[in-house]
Amino acid sequence: MDSSANRRVATLAAHLGAIHRTPTAAHKPPGFTVAVLGAAGGIGQPLSLLLKRCPLVDELRLYDVVPLAAGVAADVSHVNSRARTRGFHGPDQLPHALSGCDLVVIPAGVPRKPGMTRDDLFKINAGIVRDLVTNCAKHCPDAILNVISNPVNSTVPIAAEVLRAAGVYDPKKLMGVTHLDVMRARTFVSDAKALDPTSIDVPVVGGHAGITILPLLSQCKPFPKGGFSAGECAALTDRIQNGGTEVVEAKAGAGSATLSMAAAAAEFAHAVLRGMAGERNVVEHAFVESTLVPGLPFFASKVKLGRSGVEKVVGLGKLSDAEKKGLQAMKSELGGSIRKGADFARAGTAVLTSPKPAARLAAPALGA
Ligand code: NAD
Ligand code: LMR
Repeated sequence: MDSSANRRVATLAAHLGAIHRTPTAAHKPPGFTVAVLGAAGGIGQPLSLLLKRCPLVDELRLYDVVPLAAGVAADVSHVNSRARTRGFHGPDQLPHALSGCDLVVIPAGVPRKPGMTRDDLFKINAGIVRDLVTNCAKHCPDAILNVISNPVNSTVPIAAEVLRAAGVYDPKKLMGVTHLDVMRARTFVSDAKALDPTSIDVPVVGGHAGITILPLLSQCKPFPKGGFSAGECAALTDRIQNGGTEVVEAKAGAGSATLSMAAAAAEFAHAVLRGMAGERNVVEHAFVESTLVPGLPFFASKVKLGRSGVEKVVGLGKLSDAEKKGLQAMKSELGGSIRKGADFARAGTAVLTSPKPAARLAAPALGA
């Protein structure tokens, strides 16, 4: 090539280079539309703030039944990050909050007071979750749902039945958020064994209430020098299972975990969005439709997250004898809570008037 041809090639290359260096949409990470339902609440507010700072959120919709949603949105919107933020309140605005959403996070509902179990919240929260998910089925049927509202062991089966009845149920897209149990396990075990809480891995499987929360200490990585004595195992398991109650009692009637839960929900939502954006090997814990344990059609375990939600439910691995006993012990309670939720969604409010709904209505196995 003569020198003028070389110059022309160089000019063209520089021009193309400049085009490719221009900060265009191609250079931005993919962005998603995310809604928080219950955004004015104890979890909803800090969760909304954390999601505003999530680099994968393009648009943040903050919905609540109370008008404060608009104020929370105005407040959060001043944080200089990518997500455009809007507030919505009341059932009339719910369709606008949901339409086009990629991910819907649901912390709407009442929290526990001292002396209550999570199941005591069923009476109020079951209907709230049913109605919100009915709207999701209608206005964003392809969205991934992250259910936080308690009792998670029942609200997730409720959501599944509502979506199934609407003909839009995709088990890969429905997840109960159990990440706070995992955070607690990481914190309590690393405190007890002088390990790094930010890099420790402690699987927590089962469900999200009392004995249904089963930490698998035998699979802790790194495994602590000298292991865990039987007494340590029992004490740590008990603390992880009752971490929620510890906070409820410390707050003495003012609610349950909100800040740690917001951190957990934001971290989990971010992982879901990373999977949706095409990142590989995103593995977190969630309460999902599962065939890992016969008789328990929903179960919390590690799951691999991908473009359309749960790509794979990861197996339980080898359990210690104590963990095998723990798994056996939870079966009746977790199975009953799953049936109670499914029955409620199928039968409407009739089940609420029965003293023992789970026993009265035998539900066919879910996900069959
Ligand atoms: P909160 O009372 O502070 O906030 C709940 C919010 O939900 C309120 O702003 C309320 O107005 C709103 N709300 C009620 N009904 C609604 C509806 N139909 N549509 C939209 N919004 C509605 O309670 P919180 O402390 O934020 O807890 C919320 C729920 O999360 C509780 O059920 C609690 O038990 C549960 N929780 C779950 C976990 C978990 O690990 N999964 C952890 C902590 C709390
Ligand atoms: C938690 O684990 O903190 C939540 O489920 C709230 C509760 O009622 O304990």
